[in-house]
Amino acid sequence: MARAFAPGKCILFGEHAVVYGHPAVAVAIDAGVEVSIRESSKWTIEGMDFDPSRHPHITHILRDVFKYNGVPLEIDVKSGLFSAAGLGSSAAISNAMGAALQFHIDPDSDLDRIGLARMGHSAEAIAQKGRASPTDTATSALGGCVVVSGELVSETTHIFDASLETPEGERTWSISRAIVPEGLDAWIVLGFTGIGSPTGRMVAGVASLLEEDPSKETEMEAIGKITHAGLAALSAGNLEGVGIAMNACHERLKSLNVSSPELENLIEAARPHSLGVKLTGAGGGGCMVSLTRDPRRVAEAIEIAGGRPLISKLGADGVKILT
Ligand code: PMV
Repeated sequence: MARAFAPGKCILFGEHAVVYGHPAVAVAIDAGVEVSIRESSKWTIEGMDFDPSRHPHITHILRDVFKYNGVPLEIDVKSGLFSAAGLGSSAAISNAMGAALQFHIDPDSDLDRIGLARMGHSAEAIAQKGRASPTDTATSALGGCVVVSGELVSETTHIFDASLETPEGERTWSISRAIVPEGLDAWIVLGFTGIGSPTGRMVAGVASLLEEDPSKETEMEAIGKITHAGLAALSAGNLEGVGIAMNACHERLKSLNVSSPELENLIEAARPHSLGVKLTGAGGGGCMVSLTRDPRRVAEAIEIAGGRPLISKLGADGVKILT
């Protein structure tokens, strides 16, 4: 049997602006997805017959990436992530599946995290009709704090470049790692609204808004600047500075119309106990994130306000084989 775990992710700064070439900063979170595979007499997933059309990410990894033609597999997927919540659950499935399959085929090979990030990105691109940034897959594969940008961001360590042929032409991204100082006395608390986050629709909505009102371009530039400032504060361990940048980022996202009453409700509940609080990911639904020194109190406040909390440290480990 081969088992692998890959974490989910949380975008701290830069969602939506990253689509226009500005940087985004994401951290891997403690919760994630575990995939286990074992040889069997027939193809199954979660004890049911495996239908490739219902599992595009797993099918892409098996057929297109590994060109697997071995004996049938029994596949089990255990997820600790809310799905369609902007926490990167499909990226985590791709990475955990790729890692488990690599181990199954060659248990002595080293885990190739960059290779896994690339194969996860291509699986996302196929499942999302050619429009997928490498943010989720790279953060889940590499772990820690990952910066994705149209151009290399200074004071970060370049890891690899990714490119993709999208319906709007070729796009390229530089993926780098930022160091979060060890032992920070702060946690992130995610709060799920219970409403799925429609990434494609939210990204399209922002595109229409910019077309109707080109002055909104200043919001994108402001998010880009806030992201640089937030990243500098994070790398210096300046938690108050990170919180201020998160709050500022949320105000800009609100003026791009990507917040919602449900997100605002959870954000206001968490604010009194937070260093900073904002929506995370595409918005419209999905999750908010609080940076706090008092994660239990924030989790309680989120729960009382009707959300589902998830506590994590800032930057968990990336994909790994479980023995
Ligand atoms: O899929 P989510 O909810 O993590 O959001 C993706 C972030 C966006 O910037 C809105 C889209 C993108 O492709 O980067």
